[in-house]
Amino acid sequence: MGTDLHELLRSLRVWDPEVTDLPVFDPAAAPTEPLPLFTRWFAEAVAAGQPEPHTMSLATADAEGLPDVRIVILHGADADGWSFASHTHSRKGGHLAARPYAALTFYWSVLGRQVRVRGPVATAPAEEARADLRARSAGALASALTGRQSEVLGSPEELDRASRTAWERARREPDTPVPSWTLYRLRPDEVEFFQGDSLRRHTRLRYRRSPRSPREEWARELLWP
Ligand SMILES: Cc1cc2nc3c(=O)[nH]c(=O)nc-3n(C[C@H](O)[C@H](O)[C@H](O)COP(=O)(O)O)c2cc1C
Repeated sequence: MGTDLHELLRSLRVWDPEVTDLPVFDPAAAPTEPLPLFTRWFAEAVAAGQPEPHTMSLATADAEGLPDVRIVILHGADADGWSFASHTHSRKGGHLAARPYAALTFYWSVLGRQVRVRGPVATAPAEEARADLRARSAGALASALTGRQSEVLGSPEELDRASRTAWERARREPDTPVPSWTLYRLRPDEVEFFQGDSLRRHTRLRYRRSPRSPREEWARELLWP
């Protein structure tokens, strides 16, 4: 007898008070720009013990506009944008070349918080991508050196051989460049902060870059949950 998926689904809850602490979020006291609030929420997610708070969904669209989504790691967020790294020749790399626009979502379940970020994506200079990779682990370099991301794999043995070679090289030459490894920067047009509430009176605060504002100020508005 298999597991009954629907029974399992019915037994599950979000915002379970046993595991989720729902802080009160006062949007009237929020900063005028999204980055300081993101930084604060990120630090609070870490402090609250959120597993892997630096992982995020990255949504892209292909040349026809069909969407796809996957998890990647956040490498930084600053005035230049939210950054992540991947191979130019992967599926997402192809999408970003065809349509340099993406969306990110973070879900920090222990605090009932979601952050959504959308905007155009630019490629960082190659030197910055190299420095970013150098600053990461041998595993990150080995994984980048393995290459061929998103191509069809002929057999597990092929991957095994490529991965062994990549690990050896990563340990022997930690400065090896990986030309296809690219640092992308998403510069947000919009950032939305969602704070879950036990009575389902969730707070949604959206920041939008005002296109007509010469100083690129952010407009802030509340959204119905
Ligand atoms: C926790 C986690 C972190 C990941 N981080 C990255 C990353 O930083 N960069 C990356 O290229 N792939 C990362 N991946 C793998 C991607 O989810 C995906 O499988 C891969 O990038 C191929 O995606 P694509 O075929 O859409 O290009 C990660 C996967 C998981 C589960």
